[in-house]
Amino acid sequence: MLWLKVMATKQVLVLAGDGIGPEVTDAALRVLGSVAKASGSAVEVDQALIGGAAIDVTGSPLPKETIEKVDKASAVLLGAVGGPRWSGGPRPEAGLLNLRRHMKLWANLRPFEVFAGLEERSPLKNPRGVKGLIIRELTGGAYFGQPQERGGEGEESWALDTMIYHRYEIERIVRLGFQIAESENAPLTSIDKANVLESSRLWREIVLEVQRDFPHVPVVHRLVDSAAMDMVLHPQEFRVVVTENLFGDILSDLTGGLVGSLGLLGSSSVSGAPGSPGLFEPVHGSAPDIAGQGLANPIGTFLSLAALMRWSWQENQWAANVESAVRMVLADGIRTRDLGGQANTEDITNAVIRRLEN
Ligand code: NAD
Ligand code: IPM
Ligand code: MN
Repeated sequence: MLWLKVMATKQVLVLAGDGIGPEVTDAALRVLGSVAKASGSAVEVDQALIGGAAIDVTGSPLPKETIEKVDKASAVLLGAVGGPRWSGGPRPEAGLLNLRRHMKLWANLRPFEVFAGLEERSPLKNPRGVKGLIIRELTGGAYFGQPQERGGEGEESWALDTMIYHRYEIERIVRLGFQIAESENAPLTSIDKANVLESSRLWREIVLEVQRDFPHVPVVHRLVDSAAMDMVLHPQEFRVVVTENLFGDILSDLTGGLVGSLGLLGSSSVSGAPGSPGLFEPVHGSAPDIAGQGLANPIGTFLSLAALMRWSWQENQWAANVESAVRMVLADGIRTRDLGGQANTEDITNAVIRRLEN
């Protein structure tokens, strides 16, 4: 009997956004094209507006047409949003935040690693083997708490943000943290500010509760201020970290410093199980200082694309191929300026594609 594997056409929606966003997503699409061609598969690519680019055309950072496309997409790849040009009116960043909320992407996975060959770019004395994961809560905390408002005038003016966490929001991200720590055979580091914040005290209580279901996973509770210092001094101790939205934002950029460049970090924003909707984006922003010059490091976006391939399409081999091509290019010494090299975005992309083709 002849068995035919029926393959659904893979689809990806690309939201390039602002600044270096279009540069890094274009580079990633070239890499995707090369992987798909080598395996004889078709991939449908669609594009939509987000951030400042969307404000310029529609007045909104997350237009209705983009939401409609997102609702139909099986995977979304995002570049970056924001920039000094949009400081007065609606904020480009609101487009990304509303998108995360709309897609209910409560978990943001931000891996970091000092890649072979880049040890000297790390400020660490012993960078070898530094590798970890920050699991950042993504749809709660001060980013979304209401009210968020301004009042008063002049000397009397004030601004209010609300940091609120509900039990279910903490429980699901902490449980994911335990599951990942268990599968990695690593301790779980939970980072909070329980000496000051009520929401952190609830966080810590829930970590202790969920821990009962994972008796073999050691847990370390850390306060965010001293944890930040220790991440610089002893990053090897932070293998699997779970933390709330704002702390995760800050600490993940810190890991960009540890590994040699923010441009190396990719991320997955997901909910539920593999195959469920996901948004894949580099950790860095729109880098207005280098935008439009072809200098951006696209590797964070390549690694985000690899994560998309694994999560949304279950194409583990595709993902592994992209990741190993990236490793080889870095080990070959081909580097953008943020890593002390001379290569531009196109050079790196060509080098990764050459490695994929060999
Ligand atoms: P940034 O990450 O854009 O840039 C910080 C520094 O890192 C800059 O010097 C930049 O040139 C460099 N850098 C970042 N990515 C790089 C890359 N791929 N290659 C080479 N160098 C790179 O952070 P910022 O300057 O604080 O923020 C700029 C704008 O980006 C702001 O509007 C911010 O809101 C937005 N932002 C967006 C996202 C996102 O869309 N996911 C993330 C972070 C910041
Ligand atoms: C990130 C960014 C975003 C965040 C901004 C642009 C809303 O800094 O993805 O890290 O703070 O989450
Ligand atoms: Mn950030």
